[in-house]
Amino acid sequence: MTLRTVPLPLRVLATCFLLTIGMGYLFALAYLYFIDFEPHSKQGLGVVQTVILKYYGNREGSRLEAALQGSMGAKVTPSEQQEILQWLRQGAREAEFANIQPVLQRACVNCHSRESGLPISPLTSYAEVSQYTAVDLGQSIKMLVRVSHIHLFGMSFIFALTSMIFAFSQTSPLFRSVLIAIPFFAILLDIASWWLTKYEPLFAYTVIVGGVLMGLSLAGQITISLYEMWVPRHPRN
Ligand code: HEC
Repeated sequence: MTLRTVPLPLRVLATCFLLTIGMGYLFALAYLYFIDFEPHSKQGLGVVQTVILKYYGNREGSRLEAALQGSMGAKVTPSEQQEILQWLRQGAREAEFANIQPVLQRACVNCHSRESGLPISPLTSYAEVSQYTAVDLGQSIKMLVRVSHIHLFGMSFIFALTSMIFAFSQTSPLFRSVLIAIPFFAILLDIASWWLTKYEPLFAYTVIVGGVLMGLSLAGQITISLYEMWVPRHPRN
C-alpha cells in the first residue's frame, strides 16, 4: 500500500491530522517567539543568549534586577529604579519591602497580578516578589522535570502518528527510516540540552539544533505525505 492508494476516508483522516499538527506546531513556534524571544530581542539579546538566559540564567544578578535593567525598566522612573535596585543589593529583605512596595503597586501590579489575566507572575506581596530576588539560576529542576515529561510523552505520540503515515510514502526505505528517526532523536537532543544548558551554557547551541531538526523533519514528513496523498503521479509510459 502507498499513500496514493490508501482508501479516501483514511486519506482524509490522515490529511486532517497532518494539517492540524502542522498548525499546532506553528502556534507552538509563535508561543515560543512571543514568550521567550520577543521580550529579549528588544533588549538586544540574540537567540543563543535567550536560550542561555532561560536555562542557565543570569548568574550575575537576580531576575528582578535583570528585568528592571531590561524591558521592565521603562515602567519606572530612574529614581524608583535605583530604589528597587538598592533594596535588591542590600539583600532584598522583607523588613524593607514596605519601602518599595508602593512603586511596584503603581508601576507593575496592573500587569503583574492575578486579575490581569496575563501569563506572568504576580508581584503583589513579598512572597511573590522574593521568587525573583534570588540570583537567577535559570529554569528550576521542578520546571524542567515538568516540561521534559510533558514533551517526551506528547511529542512521541505526535511523531509516532505522523511517522506512521509517512512510512507509507514512496520515497526510498532508507530515506523514510532516517526521516522517521530524526524527530525522536531531535526531541531527545533538545530535552537533554535543556538540562545540560542549566549547567553549561554552551549547550544552548544543541538546544537550537534539536529544535530546528525537529521542525524541519516534521515539516518534511507532513509535506511529503500530503503531496503523495493528493498530487497524482504523472504516468511515465
Ligand atoms: C505592561 C505590562 C507590564 C508592566 C507594567 C510590567 N510588566 Fe513585568 N512583565 C510583563 C510581561 C508580559 C512579562 C513576560 C515577558 C518577559 O519576560 O518580558 C513580564 C516579565 C517580568 C519579569 C520576569 C522576567 C523573567 O526573568 O522571567 C519580571 C521580574 C518583571 N516582569 C518585573 C516587572 C516589574 C518590577 C515591573 C514594574 C516596575 C513590571 N514588571 C511591570 C509585563 C509587564
